[in-house]
Amino acid sequence: MLEGNGKAMSISRIGVIGAGQMGGGIAQVFAVHGFSVVLYDIDAQLAAKGYAVIEANLNRLVDKGRMNEEAAALTLTRLSLTADLEQLHDAELVIEAAPERLDLKKRIFAELDMLCSPHTILATNTSSLPVTELAAVTKRAHRVIGMHFMNPVPVMPLVEVIRGLATSDETFEIITALTQAIGKTAVPVRDFPGFVSNRVLMPMINEAIYAVYEGVATPEAVDQIMLLGMNHPMGPLKLADFIGLDTCLAIMETLHEGFGDSKYRPCPLLRSYVQAGWLGKKTGRGFYTYN
Ligand code: CAA
Repeated sequence: MLEGNGKAMSISRIGVIGAGQMGGGIAQVFAVHGFSVVLYDIDAQLAAKGYAVIEANLNRLVDKGRMNEEAAALTLTRLSLTADLEQLHDAELVIEAAPERLDLKKRIFAELDMLCSPHTILATNTSSLPVTELAAVTKRAHRVIGMHFMNPVPVMPLVEVIRGLATSDETFEIITALTQAIGKTAVPVRDFPGFVSNRVLMPMINEAIYAVYEGVATPEAVDQIMLLGMNHPMGPLKLADFIGLDTCLAIMETLHEGFGDSKYRPCPLLRSYVQAGWLGKKTGRGFYTYN
């Protein structure tokens, strides 16, 4: 349980919306750190798949001797699955990790605002959409904030914390303390398109795709250059496949529209891969193939 800045707000029960790779990772990290987590997905099959990934991740930690079996079993008891949003009514914090569509996220925030207690903090894991606009569909804009986790969530130590225009100091302090409580570092940023992480990362990925599109080099060569020459842990095209090419395109479109600057135009090759359904690792094909 986390007491927020000595104030009345305490957080022990967390709702997570979306059991994809981000939502599942977020649920895992909170459950590992002793929080009770309700993982919601509209698609029960997806929720079950998300749960299976968490179970496999915990088993891997046990195999490596980094967690004992009891702790892994206890972690799973803190985790419940639901396809009914109402089950989140008593969460003190809900973190939304639905697909990157503003209309969908607005609908979710409006519903959560109606069913959760007025004290519940509503956070979004959006990677580039305006937190202020999501807050505006609720009657609690001061309790809405961005918590942008990085993929893979269990491994990456950063949470980019985005303050909307109306986010209160208290909400910001509670979320910063909570981020520390799950062993991660909160870095505050203001609510501008792509925040900082994707404003810097995504144009690099887009440029790498342009290099392939223009025939400058193969995907393997582009990635090798960034791995060996810049010491990146993963080449930009492989990273794009891991993030999901649909997500990469959505972020580039948000940057392009938000800043109105042609330097953010998405590469046509990225667009056609998404049109083809080649979304990266999750569909088995992107710049590389996966089985
Ligand atoms: N879930 C849980 N743990 C995972 C994992 C996953 N999906 N993938 C890897 N790991 C763990 C491994 O088990 C391993 O743990 P140990 O150290 O305990 O053995 C550790 O991570 C390292 O894994 P590997 O040795 O298999 O591979 P690696 O050294 O290549 O590291 C990586 C993998 C951490 C993913 C590394 O390649 C990396 O840092 N890649 C870049 C990641 C990145 O840039 N993420 C940000 C993406 S942008 C984003 O998320 C925001 C957005 O809005 C788009």
